[in-house]
Amino acid sequence: MKKLVVALLCVLVAMNASCKTIKKDKSMIEKKSFGKLTDGAEVTLYTLKNAKGMEAKIIDYGATVVSLTAPDKNGIFADVVLGYDDVERYVRGGTYFGAIVGRYGNRIGQGKLTVDGKEYQLARNNGANHLHGGTTGFNKKMWIVDGTSMTKDGPAITLTYVSKDGEENYPGTVKLTVVYTLTNDNALSIVYTGTTDKATVLNPTNHSYFNLSGDMNTPILDHELMLAADTFTPVDAGLITTGKVVDVAGTPMDFRTAKKIGKDIEANFEQLKFGGGYDHNWVIAKYDGNVQLIASVYEPKSGRFMEAFSTEPGVQFYCGNFLDGRVPGKNGIKYPKRSGLCLEAQHFPDSPNKPEFPTTLLKPGEIYHQTTIYKFSTK
Ligand code: BGC
Repeated sequence: MKKLVVALLCVLVAMNASCKTIKKDKSMIEKKSFGKLTDGAEVTLYTLKNAKGMEAKIIDYGATVVSLTAPDKNGIFADVVLGYDDVERYVRGGTYFGAIVGRYGNRIGQGKLTVDGKEYQLARNNGANHLHGGTTGFNKKMWIVDGTSMTKDGPAITLTYVSKDGEENYPGTVKLTVVYTLTNDNALSIVYTGTTDKATVLNPTNHSYFNLSGDMNTPILDHELMLAADTFTPVDAGLITTGKVVDVAGTPMDFRTAKKIGKDIEANFEQLKFGGGYDHNWVIAKYDGNVQLIASVYEPKSGRFMEAFSTEPGVQFYCGNFLDGRVPGKNGIKYPKRSGLCLEAQHFPDSPNKPEFPTTLLKPGEIYHQTTIYKFSTK
């Protein structure tokens, strides 16, 4: 009898312990409606919550990261990305908040593309140039949700978009799959896999705007940025890369050692005039195709620290120069100029017309692959 009681007690203690572990692990995936498109299509919002309570909200429209919370040095969570409260704004918006942009992230000069000796005229949706895949890029498409799962690393969602041959005048049917995982060590990992049935170019990226202070009314000029790059690709007045790769040393473009974004932003430097601030591609010094640290950002007041890792050879650092405080974002906040910064891991802008840059050509039978990770901690 005594033995039985002891055994029962042991079972109860063990059950209690395991209940506690379950309670402590906050990870889960939730799904709800995010409204409808004008054609009646239902947009769904997926909330991924990791074991530490961090949350990523992702919609199937544009495979867009709508919100992402991260703790500050006191453990207080805040949303650290810009976005909108309703799908209508994502449809109308030209800011690319949180979306996967493609087929080609950033600009292609004059929208001119030559593949396999054939010329294609792409949309000139940014002055004379082509930007972020054209008039209706991947950011304005409904993606198919292949599934969600609780992986060993954390909750994950897989989305696919099939871009038909001729869409936005690009050749080849491209199938792009993106897996977002909110890892239990507080990172948002984005893994891309793509294929094509005809030679084409593929250069997708995620266009999240970060403000680590969590207060989107304040500019990001006090954020301290490090870019793992000794060189950058200068642009002309239309923001098209010239084909040159120039040393950052002795210029305002030098972020090899972390410095405040606002430190040199108003310097009398032609490249900054062209971009209205930073809006350039930096060349990752140690690029070898493996995942490596490409950038870090620290916000001193909150103590939030974000590291970006990627397989990509370049990173477009854009500091929200074109935000103008006009369009109401989440919670009605009208995001002022430079209230968010993007670290868009990608191949270099206009590489289809710059044979000296790493190629973005994708041929049938090849598999496009990119991994980019935004990892959060505090200091
Ligand atoms: C570009 C900016 C552009 C912005 C659009 C960035 O990737 O570099 O020039 O204005 O996207 O939101």
